[in-house]
Amino acid sequence: MQRTLVLLKPDCVQRALMGKIISRFEEKGLSIVAMKMLHVTPEMSREHYAEHVEKPFYPSLEEFITSAPVVAMAIDGLDVISVVRELLGATSGLKAAAGTIRGDFSGSRQMNLVHASDSPESATRELKIYFPEGACSYEQASKDFLRA
Ligand code: TYD
Ligand code: MG
Repeated sequence: MQRTLVLLKPDCVQRALMGKIISRFEEKGLSIVAMKMLHVTPEMSREHYAEHVEKPFYPSLEEFITSAPVVAMAIDGLDVISVVRELLGATSGLKAAAGTIRGDFSGSRQMNLVHASDSPESATRELKIYFPEGACSYEQASKDFLRA
């Protein structure tokens, strides 16, 4: 079992595609174990995109990701890190295959609707940025529910 960090980016929230995209993860049989809407700060953006901070596209990426609320989710499943990356498709919505989330809904390299961790190390690092309190509240709640 693995856990990954998924962000529905500002374009996803503003285009009212949250439900459709969350459905893709649910229909695949993955478990959303934590979810919150929040505003990414420039500091969080620099931590999240540490590998890109020095790249020419970074200032524009930071402006975009901090421009409006995002939805952060912790998602569990078998091999979930690569499964979710496959569901997303290639980085640019212009190149992503039809049938993938980005391929079906994005026509932009930057506004590609969803972020997902690309390795177990990234997932651990990114989950701490968005869920510093941990992502276990749902698990406990569902255990309590099953006991009741
Ligand atoms: P990257 O980590 O390469 O892509 P992914 O989101 O698929 O892991 O890049 C992070 C984000 O930066 C990407 O989702 C969109 C944006 N970006 C640009 O705006 N321009 C670019 O040339 C690249 C490579 C990325
Ligand atoms: Mg990446």
